[in-house]
Amino acid sequence: MEMIDLRSDTVTRPDSGMRKAMAEADVGDDVFGEDPTVNALEAETAHLFGKEAALFVASGTMANQVSLRAHTQPGDEVVAHPNAHIVRAESGAGAALSGVQFRMVGNPGGGMDVDALEAVLQSGDDHHFAPTRLICMENTHNFAGGRVLPMEMMEAISNLAKGAKIATHLDGARVMNACVKQDIQPAKVAALFDSITLCFSKGLGAPVGSIVAGERDFIRQCRRYRKMFGGGMRQAGILAAAARFALKHNVSRLAEDHANAQRLAQALAEHPYLRLPYGMPDTNLVFFQCVHPEITMDDLLAALKAKGVLLTNMGAGLARAVTHLDISPEGVEQSLKAVNEALPA
Ligand SMILES: Cc1ncc(COP(=O)(O)O)c(C=O)c1O
Repeated sequence: MEMIDLRSDTVTRPDSGMRKAMAEADVGDDVFGEDPTVNALEAETAHLFGKEAALFVASGTMANQVSLRAHTQPGDEVVAHPNAHIVRAESGAGAALSGVQFRMVGNPGGGMDVDALEAVLQSGDDHHFAPTRLICMENTHNFAGGRVLPMEMMEAISNLAKGAKIATHLDGARVMNACVKQDIQPAKVAALFDSITLCFSKGLGAPVGSIVAGERDFIRQCRRYRKMFGGGMRQAGILAAAARFALKHNVSRLAEDHANAQRLAQALAEHPYLRLPYGMPDTNLVFFQCVHPEITMDDLLAALKAKGVLLTNMGAGLARAVTHLDISPEGVEQSLKAVNEALPA
């Protein structure tokens, strides 16, 4: 049975065009800075984000963690949303690798109320308190339902941080989804942050890799921490070729994933036993709850799996369906048919 895999946009497999680009990539030893394809990718993404430099890394987690390490010293405070990936889903790396403590500020939309943020910032003048060195934001915000953060809010936070001489970092794992949705240039978002990341292995469909972009000296430090964290890669041009292919071919088509997510969410919202706790999706992530008196979310997901539809169980009765490159409009209709059979209205 061909499975319809809605668990994540990380499950895509490289298509023949991407594989060809990988096979034909010029390569060298990237730890020596000699991989021409990695160097080209780094130059292209630095340009895309309007930053001085960029660094290709193995994963979104590594992109966040080298950034965190380069922006801070052990004992510093970092402000982030309580549901940010960097706080919740990176295996405690902020504490283990950078020795920072997180101060959580966040609203249900994945953003921050500027007054609430201002109230927790620590200048470092009082020796009782850890100085705030970094503010992290995430756009789109995964665990807020793939929400696109409003530009005005990010601008206000960026201005606040600049005034307080605090660095800013954007976890932009899915920032291209936000840019396509809002029809804005990536550099416009990146200009609000000292550093920005992007994952090639999510909606963009590459098998491996993320980028972090920022000022030249910051990226030089990130390169050192990438090595320290064991992420120096050698003939990584094979992977960078997939990332370059993804940037060229798979960005504007993210709008198709968003349309598929809308269709999916609309039908799920109309089902009498399903609820969308975060409302209609902005992008490609659809979160829903099951409120049937007898059928639990575990039951529903097991029944859907038996029918060839895979979803992620987020716990606490919440499930996530993600549309991506390998999900067609027909796949969405088939998934909805399976939902209606597994959970009759
Ligand atoms: C917002 C966000 N940041 C970072 C990551 C980490 O990416 P990776 O799984 O490549 O480490 C993810 C992964 O889902 C994510 O959703």
